[in-house]
Amino acid sequence: MAAKPWGGAFSQATDPRVEKFTESISFDARLAEVDIRGSQGHARMLAEVGLISADEREAIITTLDQIGVEISEGQIEWKIELEDIHMHIESALIARLGDVGRKLHTGRSRNDQVATDLKLWVRGAIDEIDALLADVQRAFVERSAGDLEVVMPGYTHLQRAQPVMVVHYWLAYCEKFARDRDRLADCRKRVNISPLGAAALAGSSLPIDRHLAAKFLDFEGVAANSLDVSSDRDFEIEFVSCLGLIAAHLSTWAEEWILWCTTEFGYLKLPHAYTTGSSIMPQKRNPDVLELIRGKSARVIAAAQQLFLLVKGLPLAYNRDLQEDKLALFVAFDTIKACLELTPSIVAGAQLQTERIDARLEEGFLDATALMEYLIKQGVPMRTGHEVVGKLVRTCESRSCRLAELNLDELQAACDKIRPDVTQVLGARNAVAALQSYGSGGPGPVLERLKEWQSKL
Ligand code: ARG
Repeated sequence: MAAKPWGGAFSQATDPRVEKFTESISFDARLAEVDIRGSQGHARMLAEVGLISADEREAIITTLDQIGVEISEGQIEWKIELEDIHMHIESALIARLGDVGRKLHTGRSRNDQVATDLKLWVRGAIDEIDALLADVQRAFVERSAGDLEVVMPGYTHLQRAQPVMVVHYWLAYCEKFARDRDRLADCRKRVNISPLGAAALAGSSLPIDRHLAAKFLDFEGVAANSLDVSSDRDFEIEFVSCLGLIAAHLSTWAEEWILWCTTEFGYLKLPHAYTTGSSIMPQKRNPDVLELIRGKSARVIAAAQQLFLLVKGLPLAYNRDLQEDKLALFVAFDTIKACLELTPSIVAGAQLQTERIDARLEEGFLDATALMEYLIKQGVPMRTGHEVVGKLVRTCESRSCRLAELNLDELQAACDKIRPDVTQVLGARNAVAALQSYGSGGPGPVLERLKEWQSKL
């Protein structure tokens, strides 16, 4: 009983099944590094305000470093009686330093300690994910220079709509990931507020200096209400929600490329290293990695839901339910990290099947909207132009031909505003060249945006 750091008031040993049920060391051991860093910041503060001596501070800091090394080398055995990473590290410290080690937990509790650890961990995780997102953006931007000649059908409802530069597709993903990075940067501001010293729920009567501890740990501010601190997992929910959106974006990309790899589309070939075969059909090269990126997005989005559900009914301050937060947090992070690590190689290695794309580019009346806009430029009201082109499309369909194959007489019979220069907007390549508004898929705007991306990344 006395073996438990909190065992003083207990007259019965904990049921081993309860120990097994309540432990978190099996999943929070990965907080060791941030737990040690947090404790070292705390010890520095305790020494500054005179709650421990400078010698005690040094002993604590160096011993914690040693414990960190031992943990990373697998020399410390996890025991479920010691519940979590915090108690393992503290008891290792006490085993080495005796009474000096017993002073470390002065002016804090595991409640602000775990919140501090998590904030330090999430802060690092944000920086890692941000760098990985930048790698993905770079992969799209880098392949763009080689893809500038390629014009693609753009789709809405998965129906051929208007032509765009293929680079417009690549930069569309860059924009999505830019918003993801922006959201992470914003989330980081709220992560970077120190919980440390809020103690169990009410703060402390000891002369601790929370601002100093925060400074030692590179936090930008100090959380102002101790009751709020130990119940606050907003920062995790925000972070995992950001990851959820990244997952959704990756899934959209994966879905699109899975379609593009089909024989039906035939736009793209994936590098063999990122596909797998079939055990029975020798010809198959399946886009399993993309399918799993799409599939694994479910875990990440579910993790955000899990965190919302975890906190929604909790009263203020700490409740043990919160221990479950780490499971969702780590799953979401590990999953997104694994997806983002593979993505740049797939983006870089995929080969556009340009001949195949070109061969079918004139199908589906991709130039119909360009023709309508030509009519508008000739003074035809938009709705009238829409109707004229709609009728011309029907004519073409009945004759299995393209708009560009109608002769001038036929076109002028449909609308007398049509002049010989109409040929300049007919055909997908002409139609894409005509796109010029800001943010559109024509060569002018796309090249401009590509240059911006090249200098930004
Ligand atoms: N293992 C716990 C968790 O992750 C640490 C905090 C425990 N606090 C407590 N009052 N039992 O949430």
